[in-house]
Amino acid sequence: MKIKVTKKDISSVPHAYVRLALIEKGTEHFVKEGEVQTLNIVAGKFEKITPRTLRTLVRGIVQSAKKHKIEKVVWELSPETFPQTSSYGDTWFWSTIAENLILANYEHTQYKSKKSKYEFVEILIITPHEKGAMEGIARGTIVSESANICRNIANTTGGEMTPQMLANMAKKYCTSAHTKVTILDEKMMTKLGMGGVLGVGQGSKYKPRFIIVEYNGLKNTIKNKKNTVTGPIVFVGKGITFDTGGLQIKPGMAMYDMHMDMSGGAAVIASIHAIAKLGLKKHVIGLIPAAENAVSDEAIRPGDVLTMMSGKTVEVLHTDAEGRIVLADALHYAQRYNPSLVVDVATLTGAAGVAVGQHAHVIITKDRMLEDRFRELGEESGDYTFPLPLWDEYMPYIKGTHADISNIASGDSRYGGTIIGAAFLSHFTKKMPWVHIDMAPRMTPAPSDKLAKGATGEPTRLLVKIAETF
Ligand code: BES
Ligand code: MN
Ligand code: ZN
Repeated sequence: MKIKVTKKDISSVPHAYVRLALIEKGTEHFVKEGEVQTLNIVAGKFEKITPRTLRTLVRGIVQSAKKHKIEKVVWELSPETFPQTSSYGDTWFWSTIAENLILANYEHTQYKSKKSKYEFVEILIITPHEKGAMEGIARGTIVSESANICRNIANTTGGEMTPQMLANMAKKYCTSAHTKVTILDEKMMTKLGMGGVLGVGQGSKYKPRFIIVEYNGLKNTIKNKKNTVTGPIVFVGKGITFDTGGLQIKPGMAMYDMHMDMSGGAAVIASIHAIAKLGLKKHVIGLIPAAENAVSDEAIRPGDVLTMMSGKTVEVLHTDAEGRIVLADALHYAQRYNPSLVVDVATLTGAAGVAVGQHAHVIITKDRMLEDRFRELGEESGDYTFPLPLWDEYMPYIKGTHADISNIASGDSRYGGTIIGAAFLSHFTKKMPWVHIDMAPRMTPAPSDKLAKGATGEPTRLLVKIAETF
């Protein structure tokens, strides 16, 4: 789908373009009067539209256009129409329009033998603010096309998207003038002592990989007031290419979606792809520990003890709590960059969805200022976030019996699963400003999101926003 902008009068637009009309009330209808065709979409009162409802309104337009097999639409649009959305500014407005048109137009067709001939080809936007619109739309196009790349990677089946394939995706999308990708294989990981990633991956014939993506958009290293070099932003993404649960195998349908357990890693690849395309003057590193959590006689067993890269020992009380184990090595590895901010993104716990439902990423950090800023950036980006605590009271639950720590709470562990996951990770993030994003609730969309089935591509928009603002 192309998004074009013009300030020309609508009367000069060819009739092949269906006119989009937002109506306050009534029902959606498509009318043809002579040559002129109009698609009427119910938007409710314009004054009531918020940043949140603007997103779903735009997505609904794409859904209706596709339902009526419309190829070209013309839309007279201006930010002033929606006063409640003005607080983030015009670039945000136009970017949000583009993002949601492109996100809603996505379909996962990789495995369909017959591709449909119909395509939503173009949306022509008529606005007096031509320049500002083009600028915002250019940004929104990059961000949402990157989120759609993330969806393609995550939607690829577990049999195909092996750790090496995920590494190939990083190479494919993050190799440019200012980005480079380094892949560590088992040998190099053994040298580094990455017992966590190696342990989780040892049961699969598809051996683990450690993926390092580096983008440096800085001409010179930036020094802060104390004249010391400020470190990069590091994104860490869970890259479990399929999660069977391991020997403590997942029951029934619980395993069904687990080819998407590398969604955090895919979002890191996609966001750095976008950051490079936007040419941000930032230094951003992506780390993706990639492994398959398989069932086999070579897989880790409950009770096994792993020695992590940091030197800490971990008692595997549950083979299905594998994400935190691979992330621990990556978080430890992040320390070498002396980062100004570390954000890990992971489909870590089903409990996150139990806590907040399907509409938010759970964020966990001990830094109140980061918590507030991440909530705000969630609203601004559309990848909504909501916090849970990480108090010292949660730490004793994961104290190890035979090793230093255990990967789940010992004893009665029904409660606070998402926090326990973060408590485990906090052992490997000492001295770094760190935010944990448990994206499990947003791995797949809620029905009201108006997104295609499969991966959401989140939180790519949020990660880009973080790189833009930190
Ligand atoms: N990848 C899963 C979590 C998950 C579940 C993500 C559903 C998205 C949708 C993770 O590795 C896992 O299995 N977590 C366990 C943790 C438990 C063993 C403490 C869970 O949530 O049940
Ligand atoms: Mn698991
Ligand atoms: Zn998992």
